[in-house]
Amino acid sequence: MSLTEIKPGIRYVGVNDRKTTLFEGLWSLGRGVSYNAYLVIGEKIALIDTVEEGFGSELFDNIRREIGSRPIDYLIVNHMEPDHSSSMASLRQIYPNIEIVGNAKTIQMIRGYYSIEEGLKEIKEGETLDLGLGKVLSFHLIPMVHWPETMVTWCESEKTVFSGDAFGTFGALDGGITDEAHSFEDFREEMRRYYACIVGKYGAPVQKALAKLSKLDLGMICPTHGPVWQREIRQVIDLYDRMSRYEGEEGVVIAYGSMYGNTERMAEQIARELSANGIRNITVHNLSVADPSFVLRDIFRYNSLILGSPTYNGVLFPPVAALIEALVLRSIPQRHFAAFGSYTWANTATRCLNDFAARMKWNPVIPIGEMKQGFSETANGTAAHEIAEAIAACLKH
Ligand code: FEO
Repeated sequence: MSLTEIKPGIRYVGVNDRKTTLFEGLWSLGRGVSYNAYLVIGEKIALIDTVEEGFGSELFDNIRREIGSRPIDYLIVNHMEPDHSSSMASLRQIYPNIEIVGNAKTIQMIRGYYSIEEGLKEIKEGETLDLGLGKVLSFHLIPMVHWPETMVTWCESEKTVFSGDAFGTFGALDGGITDEAHSFEDFREEMRRYYACIVGKYGAPVQKALAKLSKLDLGMICPTHGPVWQREIRQVIDLYDRMSRYEGEEGVVIAYGSMYGNTERMAEQIARELSANGIRNITVHNLSVADPSFVLRDIFRYNSLILGSPTYNGVLFPPVAALIEALVLRSIPQRHFAAFGSYTWANTATRCLNDFAARMKWNPVIPIGEMKQGFSETANGTAAHEIAEAIAACLKH
């Protein structure tokens, strides 16, 4: 039995990347990542997506192992981000007669990225491509999941969708290709982190895509990253649905910056008060050392956020400012929100935190507080207590 046949006539030819430390140059990859590509084999053969070009030779070996010297007839390009498309030019050299299939936006990007002008086949929404032996592919556009050209490819006979980045996750495939070989729990947090970092800005397009995919009788989801989903389809769709609705679970993220430990002590005090109030799922991040992708993941996960920032050069402490920009970009529509700004001689952090709440259209659950100079329980204990009480009251409701 083939180790890579995931359904009759569908073979996995993707690769694991355990070398790259920052995905997109931004997001840590502690467990690596896979770049998934698939062959659909009828009388003709289609390759669905390629891999990051540093892994191109491994992809070509995988393809040869599956089909020997048979040619590939089509490359289906579901997504043009270079982690999936950048082996395209080399593939063309090996298979000069391959037709490259994509929608109008894809074709324009293929020209722009790889200067490929010949052998391009433009398809439109719902169009089909018959490979023979019962394998018919159809194409369905899901723009902005995660670029404007993104689409999925559906193979009716195998009830299989090739979903691009949708339903993807960080984490290399250690061992098996499908979720039969893994626990969903092993990937849940990496899926949240992938979603928050990569797709988190595009909640509304993801919702549209989910509505479109709900019409399909899904038996297998083949994303571009992470396991092929067969057994856990319901859980995977539910998680993407909740995250794209920005629905947070009960819990609190406290994210702070601190130069000399005073803002940190206030954050710790709030965390203790929350806990004393019976609140569970409290996650505290020191933004000077925290991995931003984990902070974003937790803010997507939980429904309450408390920020603390010193005033620094008349604005927010830089790591807090960076987090704020990441949140504004992701347009999270609602969180129970509280914050405090600290300062020594001129408090601008509190004003900046108020500006942030206004940009997000969030109503702070308590007026944004301030903390002057050193932390002491006498001076700041009441404020910490009140912030914790206000957040706890929201959660208890
Ligand atoms: Fe895995 Fe949007 O690329």
